Amino acid sequence: MKVLIIGNGGREHAIGRKLASSPKKPTLIFAPGNPGMEDLGSCFSVSPDDFRGLLTLAQVQKVDVTIVGPEQPLVGGIVDLFEANGLRIFGPDRAAAALEGSKAFAKDFMGRHGIPTAMYRTFRALEPAKAHLREVGAPIVIKASGLAGGKGAVVCMTLPEAESALQSMLGPKAMFGLAGSEVVMEEFMEGEEASVFALTDGEAFVLLPTAQDHKRIGDGDTGPNTGGMGAYAPAPLMTPELLEEASRTIIAPTLEGMRREGIPYKGILYVGLMITAKGPKVVEFNCRLGDPETQVVLPILQEDFLELILASLDGRLGDMKVAPPKEWGAVVVMASKGYPGPYETGIPITGLESVQSLTHSHAIHAGTKRMQGKLVTAGGRVLGMVGQGATLPDAIQAAYAGVEMVTFPGAQFRTDIAKKGLARLVT
Ligand code: AMP
Ligand code: GLY
Repeated sequence: MKVLIIGNGGREHAIGRKLASSPKKPTLIFAPGNPGMEDLGSCFSVSPDDFRGLLTLAQVQKVDVTIVGPEQPLVGGIVDLFEANGLRIFGPDRAAAALEGSKAFAKDFMGRHGIPTAMYRTFRALEPAKAHLREVGAPIVIKASGLAGGKGAVVCMTLPEAESALQSMLGPKAMFGLAGSEVVMEEFMEGEEASVFALTDGEAFVLLPTAQDHKRIGDGDTGPNTGGMGAYAPAPLMTPELLEEASRTIIAPTLEGMRREGIPYKGILYVGLMITAKGPKVVEFNCRLGDPETQVVLPILQEDFLELILASLDGRLGDMKVAPPKEWGAVVVMASKGYPGPYETGIPITGLESVQSLTHSHAIHAGTKRMQGKLVTAGGRVLGMVGQGATLPDAIQAAYAGVEMVTFPGAQFRTDIAKKGLARLVT
């Protein structure tokens, strides 16, 4: 069986690594891939936004199943194109991917189906938005409706902060372009966050291990938001009772609502949850796996991920079971100096070979490339150092053992990944 994985980041490397361990022994190809994925299969330099190029690649290479890593191709309709050409592809179609692609659609959908989330209003013009702000006050969360690469949400603790966020999204010099032309203003929810991943065929669903992400650049959750500086799994915050509640009040009604609206949701539904005093509420939906959460969720998943994907494509997910994980995983992201602001690339990375000597650690490539045969940085998030273990402290130790061995000038990483989880385990 030949599988094409679309994407070039840590998430896609982690997907490839998991599929490489499948008893089905698939042949893996990647578009465009990265040096980490080169060890797992062939990489073809076709961009994730070149849908025609990807279709041709899948046809010429006689690919059996395509797996889409990032959200942009899904929101742009790559599933529709592949299916129209008779190819099997895992992910939601364009209409269903709007759960991530349009926050306004997602919020209205949740409203229609009674799915718990923050109260909200949407605006297209500055003055009515400001008037609403004066009415409700701060704290408040202001979000650009379209895809904004994880940088579209601003949590505003004061009125002036909220006014300047509105100005930057709806004012004359709006910074998000089209993404900012519609703004969602929502109630600030107090609580702790967790990521839940449902894999679904549109009817049945199974839950992958839960995870917690570390979005801020600095230790103690300080500094600006990033794509994610680390993660661990499973999240002790998500007790079996809470997971059952989230399945009953959020995941099942979401899938049922999508079916009723004629846009059944297939693929991965990533639910970003806030665990509030009144129970789990949706912060956001994403239409794909999380990055860096995938780097820890997939290694501790005991089941064959490829078999789950095939079951979903065949509509027989109802027969599948996913057991709670027996192991723990932690990933520490090593990022370029300056990230999440501007950063340089092409900086040599050393020490990666020695990580192979560690039994419980491995490196995931997020933003790397080869230049004249040498491995160099190629993105903001460069590497994810993953640790696995029988306990969460073991997993953390293994992840940082990997970090110790690898370096590149200016590398920044958090030293407190998974501490939130540890705190819950001791109390
Ligand atoms: P989003 O782009 O919707 O994922 O939001 C990014 C981050 O902003 C989330 O991970 C939360 O930490 C925070 N956030 C978003 N919406 C809310 C909310 N309504 N209340 C509190 N925090 C929020
Ligand atoms: N780790 C957050 C995301 O993948 O959106």
